[in-house]
Amino acid sequence: MMKYGYDKSKLKGLGVKPFLDMENVRNKKIEEAGDSLAQAVFNSNILASKLHPDVQYCLVKEVIDRGNAKSFVLVPDKESGTESLSYFRAGQYISVALEFEGNAVCKPYSICSSPLDALCDDSSYMITVERNKTGFASDYILDNWKPDSKVMVSGPLGDFYWTGLRDSENVVAIAGGSGITPFYSMACAIADGIEDFSLTILYGNRCFDSILLRIELEQAALRSRGKVRIVNVLSDEMRPGCEHGFISSEIIRKYTDLEDCTILLCGPRAMYSYEDTQIPLLGLPRRRVRRDLFGEYGDPTGDSLYPVLAKGKTFKITVIMRDKETVISCPSEMTLLCAMEKAGVHAPSDCRSGQCGWCRSRLESGNVYVPSSMDGRRMADEKFGWIHPCCSYPLSDIRLEITELKA
Ligand code: FES
Repeated sequence: MMKYGYDKSKLKGLGVKPFLDMENVRNKKIEEAGDSLAQAVFNSNILASKLHPDVQYCLVKEVIDRGNAKSFVLVPDKESGTESLSYFRAGQYISVALEFEGNAVCKPYSICSSPLDALCDDSSYMITVERNKTGFASDYILDNWKPDSKVMVSGPLGDFYWTGLRDSENVVAIAGGSGITPFYSMACAIADGIEDFSLTILYGNRCFDSILLRIELEQAALRSRGKVRIVNVLSDEMRPGCEHGFISSEIIRKYTDLEDCTILLCGPRAMYSYEDTQIPLLGLPRRRVRRDLFGEYGDPTGDSLYPVLAKGKTFKITVIMRDKETVISCPSEMTLLCAMEKAGVHAPSDCRSGQCGWCRSRLESGNVYVPSSMDGRRMADEKFGWIHPCCSYPLSDIRLEITELKA
């Protein structure tokens, strides 16, 4: 075995006696060591893969009918190799893998249960899916997932959770429709003693009967020792104990200490558009207002900044993936990601909202339109031709290189 040597006389002058025997100590250790390979898997890596698995195999344990929506309780599919589900922070989402008309797609859904449920021996997640007039994935899940269906989901993702370093201890949540799901998870986490902040939920719905998870929210508020408060805001119905109208700046002011608060938003696009006119009236610093994923943007051709010349056209997209080129077509109102999925090109995606960066790809040539509210790119990405296909619409023929590939 090779010995390591050095000139000890140089160290003597420095008076560093403890180092003088270093060579002997090191050589002894080397001689004592076995011939087997060094440990290849470290505990920190094992923990990291438990907390951030690429994929989790699940079974649908229970389906709860909620009128226009259903909740699905997912448990680990041990037969397929998932022993327990990964822990999550209240407010995070999972990306659900679906096979739709022979093509693979991923759709994000907020986890709608307490993080405590993921820590139990019988770990579980719940997601709540609402029927959607424009999308296809939600309807597919609602119509096809039954008890014992096998499903594949990602590890917990996203940063839409409370953290004391960033957020105030007084959180005001503005929710619309199924946008209540991350806030229900936060309410449960507070009630279970996992999170410690005050949460006021301003929950917008058309009428009292359409309030999703109403009883469950009330129960979480009751268990929360006064830390969770629910205010229902009904647009189409006047009802004692509820606010009437939309969640306006006046209603937000009424329930918020504007000196010390964080505002979190999650809801449909129409709600975000309305709140974009109301929240600036509160004069809060930008860091005090955060919003969850937008979800897919839909047809952008009506945007005021959309270049009208591209409207109604279909473009040729050359996708380069693992050195293989595939030519597909993409209408101007469709994202590049959707066009690839429709054509059977398995491109990576998670959030479908321009936020996670998982679909980040290189635009070799051509031009795209990216709605400003979806553009999560860094300046350097924009400058050097990187785009997120999940929120990029073609304005010309395009060559696109997919660089990030999921295992
Ligand atoms: S899928 Fe998240 S940025 Fe595109």
